[in-house]
Amino acid sequence: MPESKIHFDRVCLEYPKNGNKSGLRFARTPRPNGQSTLVLENIDLEIETGEFVSIIGHSGCGKSSLLKIVAGFVRPTGGSIWIDGRPVEGPRADHMFVFQEGALFPWLTILKNVSLALNSARDQADRIKMARQYLELVSLEAYEDYYPHMLSGGMRQRAELARALAARPDVLLVDEPFSGLDYLTRLQMREEILYLHMMLEKTTILFVTHDIDEALQLSDRVVIMSGPPGRLQSCRPICVAHPRQLSSSVLDEMRSDIYHQLGVHAAL
Ligand SMILES: Nc1ncnc2c1ncn2[C@@H]1O[C@H](COP(=O)(O)OP(=O)(O)OP(=O)(O)O)[C@@H](O)[C@H]1O
Ligand SMILES: [Mg+2]
Repeated sequence: MPESKIHFDRVCLEYPKNGNKSGLRFARTPRPNGQSTLVLENIDLEIETGEFVSIIGHSGCGKSSLLKIVAGFVRPTGGSIWIDGRPVEGPRADHMFVFQEGALFPWLTILKNVSLALNSARDQADRIKMARQYLELVSLEAYEDYYPHMLSGGMRQRAELARALAARPDVLLVDEPFSGLDYLTRLQMREEILYLHMMLEKTTILFVTHDIDEALQLSDRVVIMSGPPGRLQSCRPICVAHPRQLSSSVLDEMRSDIYHQLGVHAAL
């Protein structure tokens, strides 16, 4: 039985080429005439409890598909995926939470949004009290009565983060959460997520990003995917204490190596 938190064992995924609109449920069924697209090929990966792992790769190489497999939204067509030594057979709300833009309910205040995610609280008063604590963590306590549309993009992202963390997930799956934000807000969000990960040290984070500096600043390990079809190209641990100086020689070397592996030479 696998002992790591998340264990990928030769995970493969094929989608039917002229797939259906409802899509994901039928990913398992290759076309009888072989009309399918190989999206992920033989992914082997071990992720430990509390690790912060970033996944980087070109558009279309299967990063989001990989996260959907971990979340149990999509079943691999080959191999298997395990969490806590048990095979993933579907979404498990108690164990993980996918945090992405647009996940807040627009008709609820952010306090209500966060309190809804609190499965553990005993009664309504407890929920509200705890929800306020999570809003404080992301410095939004003064905005608890605001609806999502009344917040700026960065504030909405912080509210999403508060809501995701309120669910106390064992595993947090994060798919390009800051891609719509301006540069300064992204920098703030990096600090925010790092601080929260330090506070909740048992939470394992899988973080898809196109931003190499984001990955270098946040992660314990960077996984680089090649493809399509998505394959694991390399895994690099980042053994540098936080807070990190992005201009240090160690991270400079890693940045160049990652660009090189991605075949992006203009940035070097
Ligand atoms: N439901 C689906 N049905 C058929 N093909 C799909 C489906 N979802 C994704 N794909 C295909 O799988 C491949 C990988 O998609 P995926 O969204 O995982 O890529 P990605 O690495 O997250 O890309 P990006 O960086 O642009 O978000 C693409 O070729 C895409 O067309
Ligand atoms: Mg994607």
